[in-house]
Amino acid sequence: MLTLGIESSCDETGLALYDSQRGLLAHALHSQIALHRDYGGVVPELASRDHVQRLVPLLHEVLAQSQCTLQEIDAIAVTTGPGLAGALLVGTGFAHALAFALGKPVIPVHHLEGHLLSPLLSAPPPRFPFVALLVSGGHTQLMAVHGVGQYSLLGETLDDAAGEAFDKSAKLLGLPYPGGAALSALAETGDPQAFPFPRPLKHSGDLNFSFAGLKTAVLTQVRRQEQKASELKNESGGDQEELNQAPDRHSLPQTNSALSAKMKADLAASIVAAITEVLIDKALAALQQTGFKRLVVAGGVSANQQLRQGLNRTAQQQSFEVFYPELQWCTDNGAMIALAGALRLAHDSGVATSAGAFEVQPRWKLV
Ligand code: KG4
Ligand code: ZN
Repeated sequence: MLTLGIESSCDETGLALYDSQRGLLAHALHSQIALHRDYGGVVPELASRDHVQRLVPLLHEVLAQSQCTLQEIDAIAVTTGPGLAGALLVGTGFAHALAFALGKPVIPVHHLEGHLLSPLLSAPPPRFPFVALLVSGGHTQLMAVHGVGQYSLLGETLDDAAGEAFDKSAKLLGLPYPGGAALSALAETGDPQAFPFPRPLKHSGDLNFSFAGLKTAVLTQVRRQEQKASELKNESGGDQEELNQAPDRHSLPQTNSALSAKMKADLAASIVAAITEVLIDKALAALQQTGFKRLVVAGGVSANQQLRQGLNRTAQQQSFEVFYPELQWCTDNGAMIALAGALRLAHDSGVATSAGAFEVQPRWKLV
């Protein structure tokens, strides 16, 4: 059974071919990061227009890679939500048009289910049941996963997602969009204990998260350090050039132009430490609550090296297994959608829909 997966919910166009016997045969991805960078975030209309241009060439690419023909495709899995309405419509419209032409069914896939199942693309895959920590740009959730399609919510963020906390903090430090990976890289050279940022809801006794307050604490600290730096500069008549050694200074907003590279690295390390500590603590609490011995971490933030190092250390100490997607499957891609569609169809033939009328769900809860 050959499934074509299509992902276009945000700023990545991803296509992949997944064969139930042979595994992943091909995948192709176009990232729109360069398109949106000047705007500091995703511009929905630009995203939609770009998806329109990318889908057909990427389809040809996966067919060529896999040496399959269009006629060999048995089903088309597509992200129908959550995400940007226009972007979802482009991918879903394309999926239905192709399915109609080929006389094949469409499998609507929840974007987060794609992330959730993405570690199953690797060998050995995690066995069920497991706790899933889903950490993306829009979601932060802990789930008990008993099998494909059998999910129950243990806790979630009450406001910002972990990815948003990374991105917004990165922006405050003048790092280019999307800031998560850049903040993480900068943090490598800083002192994680330099600033005692809050660990929101760490002791709340439940499995919920809250990251909005952290952003405010970061903003306050950045302003304070800027103030100190400019006072120092005025006192000493110091040279701004010496203070401001960030690699990409031309794109720095005024708010942080006075901060030294060392100060920025310390801020980054302290922010990353605060976010990852809460994620690790709550994941551990979810394992204790469920009694499960396996943790799966997925979504864009699962690429984060500090989070992985912290979790790996905790897993060794506390005797549980931890699984991540391969780095290429952490952020949005077509492979996880093809896999999720194929697995859903294998478990429940009722998930397949006929090509034709369709809808997308920009807001859609998985559980
Ligand atoms: O799952 P994803 O690609 O898109 C959504 O479904 O939202 O996640 C994107 C998020 C962004 O917030 C991005 O900054 C973050 O994942 N991210 C990272 C890293 N790589 C991507 N955050 C921290 N460290 C990283 N290495
Ligand atoms: Zn995603």
